[in-house]
Amino acid sequence: MNIHKRIQNAALQSKIMPAAQAASLIPLGANVGMSGFTGAGYPKAVPQALAARLSALHAAGQTHASINLWTGASTAPELDGVLAKAHGIQMRLPYQSDPTCRQLINAGQMLYTDMHLSHVAPMARAGFLGPLDVAVVEVIGILPDGRLIPSTSVGNNPTWLDQARRIILEVNLHQNPALEGMHDLPHNTLMPPHGQPIALTHPNDRVGTPYLHCDPSKVVAVVITDHPDRNSTFDAPDEVSAQIAAHLIDFLQHEVKAARLPAALLPLQSGVGNTANAVLAGLNQGPFDQLTAYTEVLQDGMLDMLHSGKLAFASSTALSLSPAALAEFNANIDFYRQRIVLRPEEISNHPELIRRLGVIAMNAMIEADIYGNVNSTHIMGSSIMNGIGGSGDFARNARLSIFMSPSVAKDGKISCIVPMVSHHDHTEHDVHIIVTEQGLADLRGLAPTQRARLVVERCAHPSFRPQLLDYMDRAQRSGAGLHTPHLLDEALSWHNRYLKCGQM
Ligand code: COA
Repeated sequence: MNIHKRIQNAALQSKIMPAAQAASLIPLGANVGMSGFTGAGYPKAVPQALAARLSALHAAGQTHASINLWTGASTAPELDGVLAKAHGIQMRLPYQSDPTCRQLINAGQMLYTDMHLSHVAPMARAGFLGPLDVAVVEVIGILPDGRLIPSTSVGNNPTWLDQARRIILEVNLHQNPALEGMHDLPHNTLMPPHGQPIALTHPNDRVGTPYLHCDPSKVVAVVITDHPDRNSTFDAPDEVSAQIAAHLIDFLQHEVKAARLPAALLPLQSGVGNTANAVLAGLNQGPFDQLTAYTEVLQDGMLDMLHSGKLAFASSTALSLSPAALAEFNANIDFYRQRIVLRPEEISNHPELIRRLGVIAMNAMIEADIYGNVNSTHIMGSSIMNGIGGSGDFARNARLSIFMSPSVAKDGKISCIVPMVSHHDHTEHDVHIIVTEQGLADLRGLAPTQRARLVVERCAHPSFRPQLLDYMDRAQRSGAGLHTPHLLDEALSWHNRYLKCGQM
C-alpha cells in the first residue's frame, strides 16, 4: 500500500510518526475526544500506546496519571479496554460497554457521565464539558487540500476536530477506501440563538459533504494503522427473540391495517444488542417491503435486510458488523454505498429529525415496571450496565416508542417486569409499546391503572404474573393515591429479595 495515496496532503505527510511518539503529545489530565461508535472507526494504536505510557508512569509512582475520555459511543478492547486496564481513565463519557470500564465504574474507581448521545456535541461546543485538549480520530485517508475521508463511524468527530486544540489522526489502511462518499457531514451546525432547521425530510436526503474538515495547523501527529474494527459477532436469534419479533410484526401489520402506519411503515430505528438484532432478522422474513431506517447503529440484521431488498435505505452514524457481515459489505460496497449514509450522531439522533420522520424506535431494555417506566442502564438500581446511548433521543421523539426484552433474566430468577423500576431512563410518557416473548402491550392513550393490567397480563412471565397482580390489587386497596397506586415499602422489595436471596 502506497501511504502517499492515502495521505495526499504534503504538510500532513511530514507529521507521520509512531504511535508512542504521538501518545506522548497527550498531556496528563487532558480531556481527549476520540473517534469510535459501537466498535467502529475508533483509533487502534494511539490509545494502546497511551495506556502503555500511563502504566509506566503508575509503576514509577505517578499513580493518578490519567485522562478524561470522550468518544462517540462504545469502542473496543484496544481503546476503552486497554485504557481502563491501565487505570488511565479518570472520567468517561458518553456510552460505553466495556467490561473493565463497567467494573471500575461500579467500584467507584472511574467517573462516568451517561448522556443522551444527541446532547454530547452541542454540549461540548457550548463549553459545558470543559475545553477539549486533544482529538484522536481514525480516518481512511487525507485529500490534497487536507479534507479527511471519515471511517466506519462518524460519531462526534466533526465536533472533536473543530474544538480540540491539538489533533492526532490515525489513518487506517485496513478500512476500505471505497467507503469514500458514504458520509454526509453538514458544516454549518449553528448554535442557538442562530440554529437553523436541518433540511432532511427522508432518510436518504443529504445536507452536507462526504468529508471531515480540520485545521491542518492543529494536527500534531499522523499515525498509520492497519487493523480491523472490533467486529463482534451476534448470538443467533433464539426462540425468545423470535417470539418477540413475531409479536412486533403482528402489531405493525395491525397498525397498517388500521391505517395508522403506511404499508412501508416509517423509518426504523433499531437499538444495540442481541434482542434488537434478532428482531431485524424477524423483519427480514416478515411481510413488509421497501422499508427505510433512520438509526444510529447499523448491525448485521439491517445489512441482511438491505441485501434482501426488504430495506431500501438506511441512515446511521456507524456500521457495527460481524466479520461475516463485514466481508459481505466489502465485497458489495458499491451496492451498499447507494443504500447507506453515515452522519454525525447529533444528526442521526436529532430530536427534530426523529419527530419529523416519524421514526419507529425499537430498543432493548433491562426492565420495565407495571406502569410502563423503563430502565435501560442499571442492574438492581445501582450498577451500570452500558449506558442510555441513543435510546432516549429516539424514545422521547419517536412516532412509536417500543421497548423489548425477554420477560425473565438469569434463568428465570429475575422478572423483567417489576412493580417499580430500580432506575428510570424512560418515563411512562416516553414508552408506547412494551413487548416480551409473552406478548405485546400497547399503552398509548391509557391511564396508569389500565396500563398496569395490560403490562402484567400481556408481558409478564406466568411465574411472576400472580405476584404482580397481587401487588396491584393490594396497592389499589391500600389507601395509596389511586392514580398510580404503589406500596412504597414493597415497590423495590423484588430487587432487594434478589440481592439477598438470588431470586426475585
Ligand atoms: N436484571 C438483571 N440483569 C438483566 C436483566 C434484569 N432485569 N435483564 C437483562 N439482564 C442481563 C442479562 O442476563 C445479560 O447478562 P449477561 O451479559 O451476564 O449474560 C445482560 O443483562 C444483557 O441482556 P441481553 O438480554 O443479552 O440483552 P441485550 O444484548 O439485548 O442488551 C441492553 C440489552 C438493555 C443491556 C442493551 O440494549 C443496552 O445497553 N441498551 C441501552 C442503550 C440503548 O438502548 N441504545 C439504543 C440506541 S443504539
